[in-house]
Amino acid sequence: MRPLLEVEDLRVRFDQLIAVDGVSLHLDRGETLGLVGESGSGKSTLGNAILGLVPVAEGRIRFQGEEITHAPPKRRRALGGHLQIVFQDPYGSLNPSRTIGYTISSPLRVRHRLDKREATERVTAALARVGLAADAMHRYPAEFSGGQRQRIAIARALVLEPELVICDEPTSALDLSVQAQILNLLLDLQEQLGLSYLFISHDIDVVRHVSHRVAVLRRGRVVEQGATRQVTEQPEHEYTQTLLAAVPVPDPHEQAARRGRRHELLPS
Ligand SMILES: Nc1ncnc2c1ncn2[C@@H]1O[C@H](COP(=O)(O)OP(=O)(O)OP(=O)(O)O)[C@@H](O)[C@H]1O
Ligand SMILES: [Mg+2]
Repeated sequence: MRPLLEVEDLRVRFDQLIAVDGVSLHLDRGETLGLVGESGSGKSTLGNAILGLVPVAEGRIRFQGEEITHAPPKRRRALGGHLQIVFQDPYGSLNPSRTIGYTISSPLRVRHRLDKREATERVTAALARVGLAADAMHRYPAEFSGGQRQRIAIARALVLEPELVICDEPTSALDLSVQAQILNLLLDLQEQLGLSYLFISHDIDVVRHVSHRVAVLRRGRVVEQGATRQVTEQPEHEYTQTLLAAVPVPDPHEQAARRGRRHELLPS
């Protein structure tokens, strides 16, 4: 079967800067592709290009077999029912002056012209899916914790029942324990709904926890791509090895062993 998403030799330019420089990748249904790389490597730009938020200079994006690289605004809006995003900072992406119910239901009201009762039912179901009680719909973003706000952002992303969710550093602003809860929620939702994720993070430790496959991005290029175990246990590229060696390890022996490997593998 054809992949859900195919990206072919994609380039995105900002004036002189080539932020995405010939990236090819694909994503199957129900699969998570982790996209990892340091700050400025082009991860968000790639995600934004797939969503049509930044113009593509060269290459192609296909979704469910349809070329959407330069899809016109009307088609893009319709694609919003299939392709959604969860950002790092839910506080920035949730309107502080709107109730949670209003925010979650707005794509429904706009796209499906649901009446109030139907919209309330859908919002209640969306909140339940992310572990929040129905009365959350009457409250405002400021009344929730960071983790709860991220649950709300996930509920909003899922309310139109998309096939693909781009998660752009969805847990990077959260405390470790909350981070784990949100990652587990994303994994549960994937299992229940058959979702595909493009999971973007600078943290290879987080990426390996949730991804079936991993692509390593450096300066706009994929330097390595493959099954998670392959990439994280037998990395071929020096840059991947550097990312892995930077992961804090609680056990001092393992830490020493890793440092040793890193010194062995990297030319000094
Ligand atoms: N709208 C824009 N206009 C000009 N340059 C941009 C724009 N967006 C991103 N860039 C530049 O493109 C490069 C890639 O940025 P991008 O935000 O995609 O990186 P990233 O991997 O998501 O980084 P981070 O981990 O910090 O989120 C950077 O050099 C950035 O400064
Ligand atoms: Mg980014």
